[in-house]
Amino acid sequence: MTEPTFYSWLLWGMFAVAAGTAIFSVFVPAPYGRYGRTWWSGPDLPSWLAWMLMELPQPVGLGLWFALGDRQGNTVALVLLAMWMFHYAYRTLIYPFIPRSSTMSLSVVALGFLLNSGFSYLIGRWIFHFGPARGVEWLWDPRFLGGTLCFFGGFALSVSSDLILRGLRKPGEKGYKIPRGGGFRFVTSPNYLGELLEWTGWTLVTWSLGSATLLAVSAANLVPRARRNHRWYHERFPDYPSERKALVPFVW
Ligand SMILES: NC(=O)c1ccc[n+]([C@@H]2O[C@H](COP(=O)([O-])OP(=O)(O)OC[C@H]3O[C@@H](n4cnc5c(N)ncnc54)[C@H](OP(=O)(O)O)[C@@H]3O)[C@@H](O)[C@H]2O)c1
Repeated sequence: MTEPTFYSWLLWGMFAVAAGTAIFSVFVPAPYGRYGRTWWSGPDLPSWLAWMLMELPQPVGLGLWFALGDRQGNTVALVLLAMWMFHYAYRTLIYPFIPRSSTMSLSVVALGFLLNSGFSYLIGRWIFHFGPARGVEWLWDPRFLGGTLCFFGGFALSVSSDLILRGLRKPGEKGYKIPRGGGFRFVTSPNYLGELLEWTGWTLVTWSLGSATLLAVSAANLVPRARRNHRWYHERFPDYPSERKALVPFVW
């Protein structure tokens, strides 16, 4: 099999994974965090280790595909690499160390690791080899400008929401409280909204189907989980703010 054929199979395979995940996630929550004990899915790993292992293929993978590609001198390729590393420096080096009371099961970590390896291949190989070698004029294209705004806006929303969540528990405390302020004034899961905005922005700035697979699988995971989280809060907290939507401010 040639590499372009492999690439194409993997690409459409990932869209199939997104469709399967969308259906599965409606019925069964991924077993971590507040749903960690819903069904047994293998031995548990400490959260910090789980998040690091799961996310590592993304920065390492993209770095590898950059090194093996033929765009080392291309400004657009370097800007995209920097944006990706910016997100993953946070995700792999800072986010895992936010204290948690919960763990994550090995099967979720293994699945996340595999999927992330696939995404980094599809995205990295496209930007640094198969896709068009874009000139600096791409940096003024409306897709790049709009996508960059969306990417960094989503990042800011995601990080600020993580900080609010982290502030809810005192050291050593377990359990869940109602988050307030920031994006939580509008939706139950602003961290998911931020992540989805980031991947929408990323799909625009790279203008590639490989990036769209990451957006599709993320949405397939996070949209049903946001709906479930919203119901979860309403069931447990009688004083949960009634005007707050699940994921899309003022709409849903
Ligand atoms: N791209 C994808 O497919 C994908 C998939 C999953 C997650 N993610 C991203 O990964 C990040 C984390 O996702 P997640 O599902 O773990 O988010 P989450 O359920 O909101 O949990 C985030 C953190 O906040 C804590 N927390 C949540 N609600 C709390 C509350 N009411 N009171 C006190 N602490 C609370 C959690 O503790 P516990 O761990 O103890 O529950 C956890 O440490 C998000 O930014 C998300 O977008 C991406």
